[in-house]
Amino acid sequence: MKKAIDVLTLGDLCVDLILFGSDITPEFGQKEKLIDDYSLEMGGSCSIFACQAAKLGLHTALIGSVGDDAFGELIRDTLVDAGVDGKYIKTDSSVKTGISTALSKSDDRAILTYNGTINAVMRSDISDEIIPLVRHLHIGSFYLMTQLQPDYPDIIKEFKRHGATVSLDTNWDPEEKWDGGIWDILPYIDVFLPNENEAMAFAGENNVEAAIKKLSEQVPVLVVKTGKSGAVACSGGEIYRAGSLPVAVVDTIGAGDSFDAGFIYGYLSGKTIEECLEIGCICGSLSTRKSGGEKGQPRLNEVENYLHR
Ligand SMILES: Nc1ncnc2c1ncn2[C@@H]1O[C@H](COP(=O)(O)OP(=O)(O)O)[C@@H](O)[C@H]1O
Ligand SMILES: [Mg+2]
Repeated sequence: MKKAIDVLTLGDLCVDLILFGSDITPEFGQKEKLIDDYSLEMGGSCSIFACQAAKLGLHTALIGSVGDDAFGELIRDTLVDAGVDGKYIKTDSSVKTGISTALSKSDDRAILTYNGTINAVMRSDISDEIIPLVRHLHIGSFYLMTQLQPDYPDIIKEFKRHGATVSLDTNWDPEEKWDGGIWDILPYIDVFLPNENEAMAFAGENNVEAAIKKLSEQVPVLVVKTGKSGAVACSGGEIYRAGSLPVAVVDTIGAGDSFDAGFIYGYLSGKTIEECLEIGCICGSLSTRKSGGEKGQPRLNEVENYLHR
């Protein structure tokens, strides 16, 4: 079905500031410590998803807000440079751009997050005009975008009434309650994309196989991402698997979101589930070769080179 927008997502827009060092633990008493390095990147599950979808050639739009500040500019520029349609990104001077600050040492990290624009999208930001234009809606960061949570049943039904398909990657629930209305919306989801820990937490199971069995009864296509080992899908009672590419990993931030975009690109292009998984794994794996979620993402020609090897 030809529509003006292939994929729409609702943006948890923020930057990630990552500080690296062997002694990265702050000390009060006004002590100053020198660190080894830092990186400042666009963050946000939905924004990383949107960049990857656009790089694969899907007409991708994102509804969200950035603050009227330098971080907001960085986010807008990153999205637009990747090819995302910037028309629905608001600059809102009443809110600050969200920032997630990570203190990263070799084996662990601590994260301090200021929400700001991460949770700025509301039901009223989704205009009646845009809904019929959209072929596929991707929902990410379900547990961070709490302003939208009560409205998801209505939002999803509206998009589906106009013929759209819907995918969901909740990401981690900071409260670890694994609800927020998720069970009410699962029956309307076409593709559900948790990682293995999230899948086990949702299903209340302590092994991935049991979680896959339980969750696959809820949705037509279940995809469980399994980190370095790749991903598993279950559809129509069949199980499919794909492996990751061997890459020199810089960091795995946003790998699951790039995976999601690769899978949805395949899904919307009429590929088989095996091919969708393979494209997802190529995007997820290659995204880890550079810092942050966006810089390492492949464009379509690079994905095709890997597919046909
Ligand atoms: N260490 C890694 N090496 C290669 N590929 C990886 C690695 N970690 C993640 N990936 C790729 O990214 C995808 C998603 O990663 P995963 O960590 O499972 O999801 P999430 O980021 O949602 O937790 C994996 O399916 C895989 O293709
Ligand atoms: Mg994830």
